[in-house]
Amino acid sequence: MSSLALTPATLGSVDAIEWLRGIPAASVDLVVTDPPYESLEKHRAKGTTTRLKHSKASSNNWFEIFPNDRFEELFTEVFRVLKKNTHFYLFCDQETMFVAKPIAERVGFRFWKPIIWDKMKIGMGYHYRARYEMILFFEKGKRKLNDLGVPDILQFPRIYRGYPTEKPSELSEVLVRQSTTEGELVVDPFVGAGGTGVASVQLGRRFMGNDVCEEAISITRDRLVEAGASVSLETLEIPTSTRDQLDLAL
Ligand SMILES: C[S@@+](CC[C@H](N)C(=O)[O-])C[C@H]1O[C@@H](n2cnc3c(N)ncnc32)[C@H](O)[C@@H]1O
Repeated sequence: MSSLALTPATLGSVDAIEWLRGIPAASVDLVVTDPPYESLEKHRAKGTTTRLKHSKASSNNWFEIFPNDRFEELFTEVFRVLKKNTHFYLFCDQETMFVAKPIAERVGFRFWKPIIWDKMKIGMGYHYRARYEMILFFEKGKRKLNDLGVPDILQFPRIYRGYPTEKPSELSEVLVRQSTTEGELVVDPFVGAGGTGVASVQLGRRFMGNDVCEEAISITRDRLVEAGASVSLETLEIPTSTRDQLDLAL
């Protein structure tokens, strides 16, 4: 890809499953995503997280959780939009992993392992303070990672006072580097502050993201533009021009 050309990116602002349904089958090279898990409600009830409170840096009063009983529909759509021989990374906590893994396997994914994100400093919690989160690594078909020397523990400092549950874009950068090549299409249906989009654009990958929260879309759009993307905002129907621009297989 020419360094002068802006990398195309599109952003939607509807329910994740509805949004995925608008994407043609077998058109996406990688899905990296981070839904707001049901188990977060449990942490809120116990007071073991501040993550559900009002964020100082944001007017977002937290988001609704995405119920576990929608995972089957979600993973079915993720599987459908992915091309053959691709990867799917799902940010996850310990509790949700046990729910998500068998459902993803049922819809056709092969589960490889949880990758550990080591945040390098302890956070909240009564029973051993939380220092890590997980990223479940799934495969559709068979695709070799680009660098077989990368370990399954990734160390990047947590983000303080950012968008609620914001993940560092450097973390997504490892996943995008490992599982795509330049020009391929990365998708995140729960984009939040857009770290995966930023990493994708910086690496010359095309990007499509979505979030029901307007503020998330606004933050992500600004960050993508800053990273060098030409960003179009979608309505529910992905405009033909955007599809053409993204060169999706229709
Ligand atoms: C855990 S956060 C993602 C954080 C993101 N990884 C980041 O680094 O900022 C989950 C996001 O999902 C969005 N969301 C919640 N329910 C949704 C739904 N049904 N469809 C699409 N987005 C949804 C929320 O607005 C929130 O931004």
